[in-house]
Parts: sequence; C-alpha cells; structure tokens
Amino acid sequence: MGKLGVAVIGCGSIHGVHADAITASQLSRLVCVVDIDEGRARASAAKYGCRWYVDYLEAIKDDEVDVVHICTPHYLHSSMAIEAVRAGKHVLVEKPVAISVSQAQEMAQESKKHGRYIGVCFQNRFNPESQKAKEIIDSGEIGAVKGVKGIVTWYRTREYYLESGWRGKFATEGGGVLINQSIHTLDLMQWLGGGVKAVKASVATNLLGDAIEVEDTADALLFFKNGARGIFYATNCYVANSPVEIEIVCEKATLKLCDGTLVMEQGENKQLLVGKESGQTAYKSYWGRSHAILIEEFYKAILGGDPKHIISVEEGMESLKIIDGIYKSSSTGNVININ
Ligand SMILES: NC(=O)c1ccc[n+]([C@@H]2O[C@H](COP(=O)([O-])OP(=O)(O)OC[C@H]3O[C@@H](n4cnc5c(N)ncnc54)[C@H](O)[C@@H]3O)[C@@H](O)[C@H]2O)c1
Repeated sequence: MGKLGVAVIGCGSIHGVHADAITASQLSRLVCVVDIDEGRARASAAKYGCRWYVDYLEAIKDDEVDVVHICTPHYLHSSMAIEAVRAGKHVLVEKPVAISVSQAQEMAQESKKHGRYIGVCFQNRFNPESQKAKEIIDSGEIGAVKGVKGIVTWYRTREYYLESGWRGKFATEGGGVLINQSIHTLDLMQWLGGGVKAVKASVATNLLGDAIEVEDTADALLFFKNGARGIFYATNCYVANSPVEIEIVCEKATLKLCDGTLVMEQGENKQLLVGKESGQTAYKSYWGRSHAILIEEFYKAILGGDPKHIISVEEGMESLKIIDGIYKSSSTGNVININ
C-alpha cells in the first residue's frame, strides 16, 4: 500500500498541528481539508497544497481518502466519526471523543461493525514523561499506587469564548474546563492511576457566568479501582496557563510530572528521570509536542502494525465517564459510581 490519503475536517486553531504532522509523515499525504468557512478551507488548502471542501460528506466520499482527522467542535465529533467509518474510512478524532458517554458507545459499536479504527487524540499520553511514568508504575518497581493528584490552573478570556461561538455552551462544547481544557489531565490520571470507579465532586462558574453557561472551575475526589484516592482541581479563572501538575504517590516512591519533566522522589532523594525538551514549537506549548507521535502510531496500526498504541474510543471514554460522574455528583451531592 502507498501512502495513506488523509482528510482534515475543521480548519481552526488545532488543524495546523494535524496538517503539519500529516505532510511531514512518510506514511501519509494530505488529500483535502474541510471547513464550513470557505475562506478557512481555501487558505489551508493553499498552504498545504491539497483539495478543499465545505461539506465534510464530500471528503469522506473521496476515494483517495483513507483516514479522516476530525478537528471540529465537540458536538460534531460523534456524527462525523460515525459517517466516516460507515464510508469505510479510519478516523482520528480530537478530544473529547464525544460530548456524552452514549455517543461514544455508539462510535465504538460502529467502529467494530465496519472494521475501521477510531483513535482519540490524547497526545499527552505520548509525552516522554507520561510514557516513562507509565512504564515505572506498570513494572511494579515502586509498589502499588496509593494516591493521584492533578492540578490545572489555566486562563481563558471572554474573547476566547466569543471568537468560537460553540464554546461555553453545553449543547456544542459539552461542558467547560472539564471537557475542554482539563480532560487531558483526567485521562492521564486515570491511565496512570489504574482507572477510576467513583467520584465525589463539585463544579462552579465563578468568573464568566455572564458569558458562558458551562463550568469554569471543578474539584473532585476520585476513587480508583485499585483503592487509591485522587484529588483533582481545574480552573480557567487563573491569570496564566500554568504547567499542569500530576503527582502519583506509590508505596515506595512518588512520581511528579510537570512542564515536560518527570521527577521521582524516594524520601529525601529526588531523581530527574525525564528532563524538559528544548526547542521551539510553532503551536501553544501546553498542547504538547506529541500529536505527531500519536498520528504516526495510528497510521502504523492502520498499515498493519500493532494497534495497542491506538487510544481507542473505549479508552477515550473513561475521562468522559469521570466528567459525567462529576456533574452528577455536583448536582446531587452524592458519590457517583462510574465503573
Ligand atoms: N489535543 C489538543 O491538545 C487540542 C488542542 C486544541 C483543540 N483541540 C480540539 O480540537 C477541536 C477543534 O478545536 P479548535 O480549537 O481548533 O476549534 P476552532 O473553533 O478554532 O475550529 C473549529 C473549526 O471547525 C469548523 N467547523 C465547524 N463546523 C464544521 C462542519 N460542520 N464541517 C466542517 N468544519 C466545521 C469551524 O468553522 C472552525 O474553523 C476540539 O475538539 C478541541 O477540543 C485539541
């Protein structure tokens, strides 16, 4: 098989990260881009030297397209992914996989039924510090996980919500700081910590209540399947996008992931296991650098490689289940079982 033909649907902020990776890969070529905003579609096609469409159905009918990357507002992810697998295409969908657990379940069913992969863009799993932490935890060398902490203190302005009208609304964004900004952290916490079974949580809209209907702040107690306990706090109300902090307390050592580094602490002994990569990125640094790795692994699996590196819909759904549980717990005051 030659290079995989790829379509990118949605030519907004994140699409350049995808298009750059697709055009740089030896495994793929960018066939077309799609945006309902014709100007955006044309501009992207001119930059990357490919076809453009305004209707995504044209792209998924395109015989040269093998893989569709979905970079559109959250509420469109499930319907676009389902249409694409029905048309015989593999799908890489930006996070969140969907805006509800039931939508994600339908995507998983359709993916199986049509024998096409749907992968989810949780690229931070491929960051060197995340990979190393996972390897150490899974090896058992530092004992069982006892506690997991995740802190996201970011900054989103009124203008951020106004410039893309789908943000800030439950119907189109599916939530606020939880489903958009901190879902990567929830995914890493549950992936590294061993899976979450229940949550006790609260959410609030503290700063931009006159502009958005979704939460800008959330805190949660997470009860892990293995008996570990987690603390999670996320807000868009800070004054800067501080590096995300994740801490995993195990029986024999504590792992700290922050700003591209991984430190292991054993008593007074602190060891830097992964140092920060140097160099510039053309995109916002807190998006991380690992989209290209995730995309390459996805293509390798499609071309007959090991699919274990694909973050499947089922896996991508775990963070959605946590978010759903957080909302339910916040509105009822109860501990909510999610798994
Ligand atoms: N993985 C990450 O770190 C990361 C970072 C940023 C954004 N994202 C995700 O990427 C997705 C897109 O986010 P964004 O910031 O680029 O949004 P954006 O608003 O900047 O861009 C979305 C684009 O989709 C287009 N669009 C809307 N409806 C469409 C349709 N029916 N058909 C074709 N195009 C359509 C819009 O015109 C717009 O150009 C979201 O799911 C977001 O959460 C992921």
